[in-house]
Amino acid sequence: MKSENTKKLHIVIFASHTGTNMQAIIDACRRGDLNGEVCAVISNNSNSPALEKARIAGVPEYHLSNKTFPEEDELDEAICKVLTESGADIVALAGYMKKLGPKVLKQYRGRILNIHPSLLPKYGGEGMYGNHVHKVVIDAGEKTTGVTIHLVEEEYDTGKIIRQCEIEVLGGDTIDILSKRVLERENAFYVETLKLISEGVIKL
Ligand code: GRF
Repeated sequence: MKSENTKKLHIVIFASHTGTNMQAIIDACRRGDLNGEVCAVISNNSNSPALEKARIAGVPEYHLSNKTFPEEDELDEAICKVLTESGADIVALAGYMKKLGPKVLKQYRGRILNIHPSLLPKYGGEGMYGNHVHKVVIDAGEKTTGVTIHLVEEEYDTGKIIRQCEIEVLGGDTIDILSKRVLERENAFYVETLKLISEGVIKL
């Protein structure tokens, strides 16, 4: 149910791969669980299932990468243009495998979220994505891992932490088992966090 006190979020999602978080956010908006609209999906990977899912969902999708814009500043500019023309007031990175350019960061600083599959600041930074994260968590013998939603800054995984949840690492966990459990939690957690932002409970 949409509360009268919620603010409709105009969300642009960046996704490079599978797009389960993206799909969860699109679905929650359409069900009315989240007062928002996914205005566009941007990917640097033209073959990503995320772009295909966006197409199927009828969400405007854009392949913007070094292939379509070989100059970094032109790519940055093109991304800014899509964000502005889509009416984005919040940007949600969901498995986006590229750093954002200075223009996008300047224009949307404080309104760009990312989701990361560990309890940052642990197990973040360059090269720490997907199963690489779950492998080091298991190898380190951690009993608890989790999900972090944070603001995006110039460097990977360094921005202010907005919200975290813990997930138990079980004795028999393999990388695949743990990654599946964390991803399922991520999908719900991203939606819940956006909902709290739309309700003004979390202020960006
Ligand atoms: C998630 O594990 C997210 O934490 C990380 O990339 C993965 C994206 O998964 N940043 P999906 O494409 O949303 O399924």
